[in-house]
Amino acid sequence: MKTNIQPAQGKLGILIPGLGAVATTLIAGVAAVRKGISQPIGSLTQMGTIRLGKRTENRIPKIKDFVPLADLNDIVFGGWDVYSDNVFEAATHAKVLEAGLLHSVKDELEAIVPMKAAFDQNYAKNLTGTHVKTGTRLELAQQVMEDIENFKATHDLDRVVIVWCGSTEIYYEASEIHSTLAKFEEALANDDKLIAPSMIYAYAALKLGVPFANGAPNLTVDIPALVELSKLNETPIAGKDFKTGQTLMKTILAPGLAARSLGVAGWFSTNILGNRDGLVLDDPDNFKTKEVSKLGVLEDIFRPDANPELYGDIFHKIRINYYPPHGDNKESWDNIDIFGWLGYKMQIKINFLCRDSILAAPIALDLALFIDLAKRAGMSGIQEWLSFYLKSPQTAPGLPAENDIFKQLMKLQNTLRHMMGEDLITHLGLDYYQELVDTL
Ligand SMILES: NC(=O)c1ccc[n+]([C@@H]2O[C@H](COP(=O)([O-])OP(=O)(O)OC[C@H]3O[C@@H](n4cnc5c(N)ncnc54)[C@H](O)[C@@H]3O)[C@@H](O)[C@H]2O)c1
Repeated sequence: MKTNIQPAQGKLGILIPGLGAVATTLIAGVAAVRKGISQPIGSLTQMGTIRLGKRTENRIPKIKDFVPLADLNDIVFGGWDVYSDNVFEAATHAKVLEAGLLHSVKDELEAIVPMKAAFDQNYAKNLTGTHVKTGTRLELAQQVMEDIENFKATHDLDRVVIVWCGSTEIYYEASEIHSTLAKFEEALANDDKLIAPSMIYAYAALKLGVPFANGAPNLTVDIPALVELSKLNETPIAGKDFKTGQTLMKTILAPGLAARSLGVAGWFSTNILGNRDGLVLDDPDNFKTKEVSKLGVLEDIFRPDANPELYGDIFHKIRINYYPPHGDNKESWDNIDIFGWLGYKMQIKINFLCRDSILAAPIALDLALFIDLAKRAGMSGIQEWLSFYLKSPQTAPGLPAENDIFKQLMKLQNTLRHMMGEDLITHLGLDYYQELVDTL
């Protein structure tokens, strides 16, 4: 049965809290792709294919030709930031993309000027921006709702989604005020400091039925109150933390080691990066949020509880160091101590010279396009099929996250097949093996 999906008619607004390195790399990239001067490499929605039916059928369309996604030409970008720089200035400051490329899309980028941010410096101590709204938390949420509605009317948009690309907030855990929507709304009215700025945007979005994806490791929509609101207003949510760089490598490599029953004694990961994200993460409270998000990955893949002989004593350590000369070109080193047959020890070393925002931008695009698709398909609440893009996937309470990137991809693709009324692919293949044998 095919799901009833509303067509992707009209224009889609992608609103982004945090017009920094990732957001500006995304916006400039989409503008360049529209002009035909670049390719959207790394984006599954634009470049990826999907197998349909039996292997013998040889049906492998592009994903964008299979499911009804918004066209890149129908996207309008906007956003908020604590700094007033337009997107061209912010992209120049971020130093991710070359000046030549930025100049070729300068007019489009200059036209995007951030709206004033809902901000509280206690959540990002190393930021000193002054382009901020004033008022209680409830008033800030109302102002964000007005921003969304004005943006929609001004650009004559059909639909809007929000992708948080703002700085990582300090570490916080869900508390009583986050436990139900009623308590959360009471706390908003009381201007309770336990409500983080990112939650204000998420609340405003969900109140208006606008889908929300979280690219940072902070809780944001990963609290019962906002899950409740997302279901109430039939709106999809996804989080958290874009899966790029070192964690991407981890979730590619670790499933392979586990698949071959190789043991792991230790995994030491260190990074240097010099962008504004690195500056914010230089504060221990902000780093803690990132650390927690990154640490869970190996445990979920190796399941030491089920495999104590192989993974029971794994030592996992992560370091992030702010090092300005490298800018956005993050460099990471991993030392992995593994053991094989009869316990013999081996080592793997990875030195990844990556570009953080080049890896993150296509993820932000895909999340925006897929969460818009989910909304049009009538899906609401946590979209676990989008875990593929996330370091610390949000799941229903009590459900362990799936971090193996290959299983995540299978889930994503099967969700798309399910939406479109295609057979799910289990990779069993016994049925058509028999058919092939019978025709011999
Ligand atoms: N670059 C990557 O590969 C990557 C990977 C995973 C996660 N992330 C996360 O994505 C986020 C963005 O990363 P980035 O490299 O673009 O960082 P960045 O520092 O360049 O940009 C973040 C922007 O958010 C703004 N901001 C902070 N609080 C805000 C608020 N309350 N409202 C509006 N704007 C606000 C900052 O002023 C800044 O311009 C970070 O949380 C980062 O941890 C990035």
